[in-house]
Amino acid sequence: MALRNILKEGDERLRKKSREITDFNERLWTLLTDMAETMKDGDGVGLAAPQVGILRRCVVIDVGEGLHEMVNPVILQREGDQFGAEGCLSIPGEYGMVHRPQKVTVHYQDRYGKPGQLEAEGFFAVAVCHELDHLDGVLFIDKAERMLTPEELQRE
Ligand code: NI
Repeated sequence: MALRNILKEGDERLRKKSREITDFNERLWTLLTDMAETMKDGDGVGLAAPQVGILRRCVVIDVGEGLHEMVNPVILQREGDQFGAEGCLSIPGEYGMVHRPQKVTVHYQDRYGKPGQLEAEGFFAVAVCHELDHLDGVLFIDKAERMLTPEELQRE
């Protein structure tokens, strides 16, 4: 296991569309394990491969209910709406108010290529949408209705 360097906003790799993963090999397993470790080290709840400079479609998410690894994830269904503050390990210290679905259904593969599906609600749904956006080069600041002010941040 190893910590990976997290790219910061302004790095053009964060704006690229990531490619599908077709090889479920040791290289992918190391990447996913490193991503989980890097996410935890940064006190994040999610991390996408392009954030560590790998333009491949996989993410790790842990909103406090256990680690989820998703390879080639696709949102099949979106329901409802929620509006809340969001941040990103690639944009440290900044938070913005973003609209997201209340609930999403995601199809993905695990690290061995086995397909799975899950429903994410509330903050978990936010994390899924946020991380999947990274795979298409989209950042939360693109979608934020407004950014939080320093005063608001202090109150959080
Ligand atoms: Ni992010």
